[in-house]
Amino acid sequence: MSVESHSDPQALLAQLVAQIGAAQDEAALRAIEREALDKGGVVARLLAAVPSLPRAERPAAGRAANELKRGLETALATARERLREAALAAERSAAGFDPTLPAPRPRRGSLHPVVAVQRELEDLFISMGYVVLDGPEVELDWYNFEALNIPADHPARDMTDTFVCRELVAGQRLVLRTHTSPVQVRAMERLEPPFRAIAPGKVFRQETTDASHEHTFHQMEGLVVGQDVSVGHLVGAMKTLLRGIFGRELDIRLRPGYFPFVEPGFELDARCPFCSQGCSVCKRSTWIELLPCGMVHPNVLRAGGIDPERWTAFAFGLGLSRLVMLRYRVDDIRHLLAGDLRFLEQFA
Ligand code: FA5
Repeated sequence: MSVESHSDPQALLAQLVAQIGAAQDEAALRAIEREALDKGGVVARLLAAVPSLPRAERPAAGRAANELKRGLETALATARERLREAALAAERSAAGFDPTLPAPRPRRGSLHPVVAVQRELEDLFISMGYVVLDGPEVELDWYNFEALNIPADHPARDMTDTFVCRELVAGQRLVLRTHTSPVQVRAMERLEPPFRAIAPGKVFRQETTDASHEHTFHQMEGLVVGQDVSVGHLVGAMKTLLRGIFGRELDIRLRPGYFPFVEPGFELDARCPFCSQGCSVCKRSTWIELLPCGMVHPNVLRAGGIDPERWTAFAFGLGLSRLVMLRYRVDDIRHLLAGDLRFLEQFA
């Protein structure tokens, strides 16, 4: 392109527009564009020269340079559209193109394994007369601790490392709930006994993560309030739960477990569903620690507005994420919420 010789912007525009019209590919267009419009290009040089012209000539010279710029931009855009359409036309006329073929199918998603197991358990519990409840993930200190018989100076508050919000609500601390147990108290406030409820959801703890510990994971709370509800009912419900999860009867055992909101409290273990003499899942013990549970403490019933003289209750707190790991033999809990499609697509 020889453009230096032109002192007349109109003639220059005509010459460049002709070159643009003849260009056969993007590389040729880009070369013209670079020379004319980029930093240090013809237009920039014309504009830079304006202040050194006699005063009377300056407005016209500035206008001419700007018109040249706009003219080139329009010609380039038109040429690019022409190239794009030509490429499309070539593709359409190429051998093998069949416009009657169905369009590629959209990619189908699938349920996240936690959601799949959660829904399965919800169906199971609904069939046993439970209602499914939801609770806030950002929770008042009262529900997460106080009402659960965990006062501010209680050592049990150290059991979980809590994410605490800066804002106070009505003078109260807000926390990311460390377990689904606060929904117990919310359920008592809303439902008339007798009732049965489960509350699945996300919980948060400020923990160092490893293959079996996440800072964000899922639990499923269960609560049954009634007259003369006993440990026998608790064991019966847990056996039904395990049968639903593993598809067969599993032996269970109760060990004492301490949680301020239940008395007595238990850790329920089930016989390893994968082996009879010890494997990597049960760490060679043939038992797997499955869910903490117990009889709801009278103080908690009172905090929820329920008379402990009239009603008794049991509660359990299933580690849903751990259960999903067991079910699908996931070796690292951190896969669950990492959002990696290579992992998630295995559950399609
Ligand atoms: C609780 O959270 C009690 N709220 C459970 C409860 C409810 C007891 C009702 C009695 C009555 P715990 O901190 O043990 O308890 O957690 C319950 C389950 O959550 C554990 O058994 C485990 O399966 C799971 N869990 C705990 N911490 C983590 C973690 N960092 N990552 C993944 N799962 C976890």
